[in-house]
Amino acid sequence: NTVRVQVPATSANCGPGFDCLGLALNLYNIFSFTPDENATEYIYTFEGFGADILRAEDPKKNLIGFAMDQVFATAQEPIRYGHITSETLIPPSRGLGSSSTAIVGGLLLANALVKHPLSKEELLVIANRMEGHPDNVAPAIYGNLCCATGLKNKVLNTVISIPPELHFAVVVPEVMVSTEYARSVLPNHIPFKEAVQNVSHASLFVTSLITHQLSNLSVALDDNLHVPYRKTLIPHCDEVFEAAKVAGAYGATISGSGSTLIAYVDKTHVQEVAKAMGAVFTANEIENKIYCLEAD
Ligand code: HSE
Repeated sequence: NTVRVQVPATSANCGPGFDCLGLALNLYNIFSFTPDENATEYIYTFEGFGADILRAEDPKKNLIGFAMDQVFATAQEPIRYGHITSETLIPPSRGLGSSSTAIVGGLLLANALVKHPLSKEELLVIANRMEGHPDNVAPAIYGNLCCATGLKNKVLNTVISIPPELHFAVVVPEVMVSTEYARSVLPNHIPFKEAVQNVSHASLFVTSLITHQLSNLSVALDDNLHVPYRKTLIPHCDEVFEAAKVAGAYGATISGSGSTLIAYVDKTHVQEVAKAMGAVFTANEIENKIYCLEAD
């Protein structure tokens, strides 16, 4: 009677879509739950990236159990305790939505146990409340590219498929950037012209994916809201973007709040682009991992 779910990594913002666009990738964290009638709390086993840190933290504050509680409460059913196993393949605190996978993983585990499961829309409302912005949790629940707007008690979310020829070269440097800090460096005001440009780029991004006009991404990925401020937190960020373009990417941006950098690439070039991006960090003695990914 063990329930098992896998939840994808997500790349939020997608350049100009700060706090609203997010993309699911084919790299996963896996969560399982075995109910135990004798248990009086959630009992955790952690494996994979960040397991040591997670083991050292207070289990009562773990997002997985907290998310499960929210589903039991919303479904008006008693909490069921037991053994939770978390296997993390997604590097944590790197802008790939690892904390969203814990939230969504907990929601899906509990939802598999209740008599009247909540809808995806209801799960997204809970996830958005827990995370504070919907751009990682929406694609973690729905897959593909999501455009989501959180309202008071609901989230409007639309999903579009990613063209199959579009792949993603991802480089994860050994640089930790907390989302909280990466949000604190953002300005309170930006010039009107820059805001207008962001609206046009975000719109162009979405319509270019729908119409498969992928060469537009070289412009559509450019952002004025967060990338210019956050790139100072990631050493050699501009050089990595440049290396990605030279190696054949349409464009590159910061994934979520960083430090991961993601290039949007035709599948025929994805390996070269990923290698070129990693090589910039390696040349500067910054350890890094590269991934060639597709949309989930
Ligand atoms: N949109 C959020 C941010 C994503 O950029 O702060 C955080 O993962």
